[in-house]
Amino acid sequence: MESLSKRIAAARAAVAGAGSLDEWERLRVSLLGKSGLLTAALKELGTLPAGQRQQRGAELNVLKAELSAALEARRAQLEQDAALARLARETVDVSLPGRGAMPGSLHPVMQAMERICAIFERMGYRREQGPEIEDDWHNFEALNFPPHHPARAMHDTFYFENGELLRTHTSPVQLRAMRGRTPPLRIIAPGRVYRSDSDQTHSPMFHQVEGLMVAEGVSFADLKGTLEAFVTAFFGRRFEMRFRPSYFPFTEPSAEVDIRWTDAAGKERWLEVLGCGMVHPVVLENGGIDPERYTGFAFGLGVERFTMLRHGVDDLRAFFENDVRFLAQFG
Ligand code: FA5
Ligand code: MG
Repeated sequence: MESLSKRIAAARAAVAGAGSLDEWERLRVSLLGKSGLLTAALKELGTLPAGQRQQRGAELNVLKAELSAALEARRAQLEQDAALARLARETVDVSLPGRGAMPGSLHPVMQAMERICAIFERMGYRREQGPEIEDDWHNFEALNFPPHHPARAMHDTFYFENGELLRTHTSPVQLRAMRGRTPPLRIIAPGRVYRSDSDQTHSPMFHQVEGLMVAEGVSFADLKGTLEAFVTAFFGRRFEMRFRPSYFPFTEPSAEVDIRWTDAAGKERWLEVLGCGMVHPVVLENGGIDPERYTGFAFGLGVERFTMLRHGVDDLRAFFENDVRFLAQFG
């Protein structure tokens, strides 16, 4: 009994000093478990003479109760310590600045394209689409560029080996829209076009919006009024425009439109934004429309140029460098 008391005293000290729930559990098993110290002592009771059994049993029960209480107290303490440690670990400093979400937005050129299309749609134009890989007939021949016509040299064309090409303008969609339809028709055709061309105002891939109106009695005055109304709606204010006589094989007469802007140095400059004209009778015929009865106008505008003017960006290449700091300004 004496040696048992010593061992129990040592065990109580160990319980009080248990540093973790794991250690605590090992101690509990070694004391009160199936083959623990106290359990073994209680089992030995049966081997004692009847006279000693009762007293000894009572002593052991007191020890057992004390040990259980000590274990319970230690466990409660260890659990509380663990909970506090976890709270400390998981503390969130709500006063820290947030990380901020970075939502994407439409590219400024796409925003301009949507704006352009929406304005024409309000004027009754319907959107059409054509392929970016075109054949020579739609891109050139049907638009009155015969083979070897010098005007082909104005388009620095990317060709495929099979003779197909990346469309150099959206004008081939004019043909696709005319065929199988009867006037009056009013369409716009937004999309990507390609030319081997690169400088401050030219990029090898750029966007155009083609416009076409065919009906009886359409005149150049209608074209001019339409484009002036469009430019005012697009910029939200009047911009000085000039119609400059030009040449396209598929329109006659033809013009290019320039818009006046002021550069960073304060100098007045003109930027060409679109080509236009009255649809050439040969093109109407190729589109299956009777040029004796109908006339039409067409225009092809450079979306990047309108985007530059709208935002005061003087180098169009900035739109294609994918610098998020630049692009985020237009979100
Ligand atoms: C044409 O592409 C004609 N198809 C336009 C047209 C349509 C005329 C219908 C008559 C009737 P042009 O090559 O000038 O024309 O190009 C039209 C516009 O596209 C230019 O005014 C300019 O704004 C833009 N543009 C031309 N080349 C580039 C380029 N490399 N990068 C960016 N924009 C360009
Ligand atoms: Mg031009």
